[in-house]
Amino acid sequence: MSDQLTLLDRLGEQPADALLALIALAEADPRPTKIDVGVGVYRDAAGNTPILRAVKKAELILWETQETKSYLGSQGDARFVELIKPIVFGEAGARDDRIVGVQTPGGCGALRLGAELIAKADPTARILVGTPTWPNHEPLIGAAGVAMVDYPYYDKAATTIRFDAMVDALNGASAGDLVLLHGCCHNPTGADLNLDQWRVVAEIVAARGLIPFVDIAYQGLGDGLEADAAGACLVVEAAEQAIIAQSCDKNFGCYRDRLGSLFVKMPTVAGAEKVMGNLLGLARTMWSMPPDHMAATVRIILDDPELAADWRAELTEMGARIRQLRAKLAAADPRLAYIAGQKGMFSMLPISPQQVLNLREKHGLYMAGSGRFNVVGLSDSNVDYFANAVIEELDG
Ligand code: LMR
Repeated sequence: MSDQLTLLDRLGEQPADALLALIALAEADPRPTKIDVGVGVYRDAAGNTPILRAVKKAELILWETQETKSYLGSQGDARFVELIKPIVFGEAGARDDRIVGVQTPGGCGALRLGAELIAKADPTARILVGTPTWPNHEPLIGAAGVAMVDYPYYDKAATTIRFDAMVDALNGASAGDLVLLHGCCHNPTGADLNLDQWRVVAEIVAARGLIPFVDIAYQGLGDGLEADAAGACLVVEAAEQAIIAQSCDKNFGCYRDRLGSLFVKMPTVAGAEKVMGNLLGLARTMWSMPPDHMAATVRIILDDPELAADWRAELTEMGARIRQLRAKLAAADPRLAYIAGQKGMFSMLPISPQQVLNLREKHGLYMAGSGRFNVVGLSDSNVDYFANAVIEELDG
């Protein structure tokens, strides 16, 4: 053997994903009082991440009725996409043939496919991304070759959206620039635009010819399915072209099965058909065809009025539980009052990385280094313990 490095030896060390590494860290902590509020998964009052009732029933139906597992093609389950479309865009949007979509492996697959589409259309395209954003946005979209430019979104110390600064940044963007927007339940802050603010964003998008790239991964866990998509729908309606990455992983609780979709709106049906061809071509170069199991399961649910109603009811219960936990935390201390006004799973504590570490070492609280924590990672029995530990840390 020569002492020259062989191909794969040339790779550098890859640091572990910080958010996913938290899962293992929390698991290894022997303290019974530890709390994992790191990665974003829903937990019920007992601290479990359940398989939804409708999902269990539909899986049984799928098992009994599915006759083949032969290929479906790069678009995945077309009926699943057809049934998800009105949930995201409403009935009017669902009838709009200028909006086309394909099934993807989770919201990550949708984001990456959208980014690949952008880079293929224009290798010099750039996307404006609010700060802070979900840490995986940068590697997912940036790795496709799309240049990322920051715009201010949230003031962590003041726990408020920097709306004026955001508006200034969007007004400074050029026609054809993309803007990444969180459809609802902003990850990592929980701070969503209100409808008036969405209207302003929609006006800027229309006036300046910007292209919204909406990431909607938590629909239904904020104020309900329709309300959570209302702002995104305004922006999509206002835009000539738009890209929407949707995820079912959270609102159908099917995390590890990975189910999402990517929709693209074009000015004309012919343009949309051309985009569809490109989406299929790009999907073929990445995963070829998306995994079927959960798309078939969700299709069965949404095609069955009883199962669909039960899914909506359970999702409503989940949203209500998140709001209850938020209210509890907000009531614990005036410095936490802002948590009640936020949406979805996440909130960001106005604390330093050192304070995050203190909470981990002293109290066994596992949250992201940014101070982001998963509100619904708390159970009824440990929410007070969590609040007291945070208050102690805020007191210094
Ligand atoms: C999260 O932000 O915790 C989730 O979206 C899970 C992930 O893939 O990071």
